Amino acid sequence: MDGINFESVLRELQKDLKPYDSPESNFVKIPEKGIAEDSILGTLSKYSERENTPWKAGKVSGAVYYGDEPLLSFYEKLYHIVSQTNALHPDIWPSIPKFEREIVSMSSSLMHGDEGVRGSVSSGGTESILLAMKSYRDYFRKKKGITQPELIMASTAHPSFLKACEYFTIKPVVVGFDENYRANVESVKEKVNQNTMGIVGSMPNFPFGTFDPIRELAEIAEDKKIGMHVDAIINSGVDPFVRESGYNFQDFDFSVEGVTSISMDTHKYGFAPKGTSVVLYRNGDFYQNQIYAATGWHGGIYFTPTLLGSRPGFPIVAAWAALLLLGRDGYKREAKKILDVGDYIKKSVRAITELKVVGEPLWVIALTSEEMDPYLVWESMSQKGWILNGLSNPAAFHLALTHRHTLNQAKERFVADLSDSVDSVRNGKVKSSSMAPIYGMASVLPKESTEVFMKSIVEWLYSQ
Ligand SMILES: Cc1ncc(COP(=O)(O)O)c(C=O)c1O
Repeated sequence: MDGINFESVLRELQKDLKPYDSPESNFVKIPEKGIAEDSILGTLSKYSERENTPWKAGKVSGAVYYGDEPLLSFYEKLYHIVSQTNALHPDIWPSIPKFEREIVSMSSSLMHGDEGVRGSVSSGGTESILLAMKSYRDYFRKKKGITQPELIMASTAHPSFLKACEYFTIKPVVVGFDENYRANVESVKEKVNQNTMGIVGSMPNFPFGTFDPIRELAEIAEDKKIGMHVDAIINSGVDPFVRESGYNFQDFDFSVEGVTSISMDTHKYGFAPKGTSVVLYRNGDFYQNQIYAATGWHGGIYFTPTLLGSRPGFPIVAAWAALLLLGRDGYKREAKKILDVGDYIKKSVRAITELKVVGEPLWVIALTSEEMDPYLVWESMSQKGWILNGLSNPAAFHLALTHRHTLNQAKERFVADLSDSVDSVRNGKVKSSSMAPIYGMASVLPKESTEVFMKSIVEWLYSQ
């Protein structure tokens, strides 16, 4: 594989990604006789102690967005009541589509939608994005006769847009960003042609947490009568409250003419357990193209609003209940706390001269350096127990702030560890980074080789 030592990469990954692998503890076949409940619970407790400690301590970027009482025990109570529900059967459980309607409607109200807005509750951000792109593709095929659709996005947009392109045979057109890491509007303008079905704007993007110029992008979309999707997946509970929390912010939702769809996750800053996201369309024409309906099937009437068939009711119930339990007030309170931590970190990093904040983020804060290798700082932070996200082009790492970082002096510990890590790198105490070679490899290898390499790693991860 182009000179890469696959085995040494796997050895490096083994300790983090397959830490429990051993011939004694791996089940290769279903056990002949059932195993005692206590033994199963014991195994889970052992694993979860290791896995839950870092995020509980506020040392993990993103991943767990709330994770505290009273929400946790509330969700446990809900699960007990609704564990058997399936959204595929509204005839058996008509409460589930009612909850979905209400989640869609409450989310739309946060995004300044009117009564024409339609949408769905999906299983996560990726599914919301897949659905929106599939809807655009089919809508514009009928409406404008586009048979070879193209989608324009900045390179900072989430890979689920590229995945949508691969799944639904859409050509991705990737543009760069400006000096503030915002989608380059001029490049977008240049790339629009008669096959363009839509433009993507991120609010914010995952890598750098920076915000694309939604109004300018939406103006292009409106002018060309194409779709404009705002990916607000990592903002849901925060974006609507940024201004109310005293920070400057742009208009980005349905209040901006030209925005035709929005994805927003209830399972991130909506503080619901994993398994729900919302996709919203300005009108029902797009939404109609999302729905699947089988006619004349032997199994009776069959339709699905989203990608999946059977859908567990619990995540939907939990997302609905989280919106009710927290209310506008609760989300606003949490958003302000998170934004204030972001402000504290940005201000504190200014005192560490070797480090630089990438762009102008608010609560997903990427750090880079022109004076030292940022991956070595990242490595040192990992050695101190931080689980942060590595980024490339530029080499950087980020911390996505959540409720966890508003607790127990997490922000002060982050800054102190950061400062200490920079000192260690400056003094030559951190010699190499375990992940840097992998990132470095990805940036020098041709796309095809990297893809083969990554797919082999995935196969390794999910094979015994
Ligand atoms: C901006 C953005 N869009 C989409 C997604 C995909 O969301 P999910 O992982 O829930 O599928 C993410 C995930 O972090 C994201 O940050």
